[in-house]
Amino acid sequence: MRFADALSIVAVAAACSVLTGATGLILGRLARHRSIRWQLALVAVIPVAGVYLGATAVARLMFISAHDLLVMSVVTSVAAIIAVATALVVAAAIARWSEEVRVQVRRFEDTTAESESGGPPGTAELRSLSEELDRTRERLRQATDRERRLEDARRELVSWVSHDLRTPLAGIRAMVEALEDGMATEPGRYHRQIRAEVDRMAGMVDDLFELARIQAGVLTIAPEPILLADLISEAMTAIAPVAQTREVRLEGAVEDGLEVSVDPAGIARVLDNLLANAVRHTHPGGVVEVRGRLGESHVEIAVSDGCGGLPVDDLARVFDVAWQATPARTPEGQARGGGLGLAIVQGIVEAHDGRIAVENQPHDVGCRFLVELPV
Ligand SMILES: Nc1ncnc2c1ncn2[C@@H]1O[C@H](COP(=O)(O)OP(=O)(O)OP(=O)(O)O)[C@@H](O)[C@H]1O
Ligand SMILES: [Mg+2]
Repeated sequence: MRFADALSIVAVAAACSVLTGATGLILGRLARHRSIRWQLALVAVIPVAGVYLGATAVARLMFISAHDLLVMSVVTSVAAIIAVATALVVAAAIARWSEEVRVQVRRFEDTTAESESGGPPGTAELRSLSEELDRTRERLRQATDRERRLEDARRELVSWVSHDLRTPLAGIRAMVEALEDGMATEPGRYHRQIRAEVDRMAGMVDDLFELARIQAGVLTIAPEPILLADLISEAMTAIAPVAQTREVRLEGAVEDGLEVSVDPAGIARVLDNLLANAVRHTHPGGVVEVRGRLGESHVEIAVSDGCGGLPVDDLARVFDVAWQATPARTPEGQARGGGLGLAIVQGIVEAHDGRIAVENQPHDVGCRFLVELPV
């Protein structure tokens, strides 16, 4: 073939391909809102049409005989039919996979529904979209759970405020009225009782205030280096009289010279709360143990008690605001706290960039609160 002829054929083929390609793009744009079947059918037909048009044009220029053109037309027609059929099969599969993703998206809001068993749909892109949806749905579920728990806690807090603060107030009012009317047979006892109630309520209001500061994110800590042993022994000394009354043995062990950089008042409050809880819930004759040691990248303080262990559901809730175990599980004769202690403890520990967790000790001895503070 002469070079000039070859050039002519290339030019004609290119012109035909550009023409069919442009037509395909225009048709594709017009059909862009239609099913993917149309797009794929176009993708299948356009190259075959380009070949057919090119071959016809080249035949007109006498490079191909009429017989060869006929053979080529038959071949391209069959190819076009097969290509369109294949495209429709692929399009049907893609449409089915898209439908599965659509169903998945529709179920998205229902965070309670279980994830579908069986693999995610078809192509790599749809599969990764589907996996991303699953992950987002899981995050949404966790956020909804957290939201629900916060809502429960808020509701409990409101009923707590109305019960735990209004009830003692009503008692105080009754006692004051009895004193005013001269009806109190033992005024001294009434005064002591009023004083005790007022102190308890003042403590609760302090806790509420502290909690509000934690939740508002305005709790400030002033870290300073201090020996952990000093903090722990002060907290143990403070709780010792209560432990003695309850016949609970206190034990402590801290690594020598272990220094921490913490807000002393904040961590003292953490230890006081953890020890008060531990002593309150330990059965008489049991042991409360505090251990302090240097871990790999943090200081660990562990408070173990002899409460007999907590149900797994309760372990997950102890740090919730105003949550308390049901009265049936509250040790008898114990003054009801406010249920704010551990929420405050958690807030103070987290303000130190630390972590707090609780677990049951082996053999249902009791539970163990583990505080980790950065070194
Ligand atoms: N060491 C523990 N052993 C067993 N149960 C515990 C222990 N610490 C806390 N709990 C459970 O978790 C609940 C919440 O504890 P939290 O310290 O937040 O509140 P509280 O002690 O009831 O009241 P407050 O600390 O405000 O006076 C407790 O009521 C108790 O049911
Ligand atoms: Mg407490």
